[in-house]
Amino acid sequence: MKTKIKAQGGPALERLVYRIRDPETSREEFRNCLGRIGEYLGIEIARELEQEKRKITTSLGKEAEHRLLKEDPVLIGVLRAGLPLYYGMQRAFPESESGFIGAMRDEKTLKSKISYCAIPDISGKTVILIDTMLATGGSLIDIAEMLNEKKPRKIITASAIASQKGIERMSAYDPSLRIYTAVIDPILNEKGYIVPGLGDAGDRCYGEKL
Ligand code: PRP
Ligand code: URA
Repeated sequence: MKTKIKAQGGPALERLVYRIRDPETSREEFRNCLGRIGEYLGIEIARELEQEKRKITTSLGKEAEHRLLKEDPVLIGVLRAGLPLYYGMQRAFPESESGFIGAMRDEKTLKSKISYCAIPDISGKTVILIDTMLATGGSLIDIAEMLNEKKPRKIITASAIASQKGIERMSAYDPSLRIYTAVIDPILNEKGYIVPGLGDAGDRCYGEKL
């Protein structure tokens, strides 16, 4: 099974990544672009989920057949920066149950601390874990570890930007993890920032934390 998948959205998706990298992009546009990236990723992820054929009879009395998801995945958004990406993903999976986890990285040690967790029952279910940045991978690994105790069927991660190193760490932690990202950046600097990256995603979305 392939661990890593870079989204295949083409120039329309690339344009959104280009816009979030631009430091002049306003907060509103930044969040909107993340939402659209989340929707793209959701549409791609849906292709790998189990599907079933369903028939619908139209007002003309004729049947049409479609392939729909057999079961909605559970969406879990990571606060803060994962929120706009989560909202976009929700447009691809509008009937999904959702959960939220608060994780904050200590900027000195680069270790993440989980401070909040409100999630539905995920046992036997497919979970999409949504965080805008996959930098060292520390936050998502800690969260995946916590979620794995609840025995989900599968965890898929979705991010806008992932570092090569973060992907490698996640794959080493669990080779069966499915990792979707709009773009993979080559460098993780000494402060744990993705380079070229986009800066601090939470601050870009909502303003600087005190
Ligand atoms: C950012 C981002 C991820 C984490 C990624 O969150 O949203 O959760 O860093 O870094 P990692 O892969 O090295 O763990 P941050 O701690 O800045 O919090 P915020 O979203 O509230 O700004
Ligand atoms: N978190 C961010 O918001 N940006 C990075 O580059 C790394 C972690």
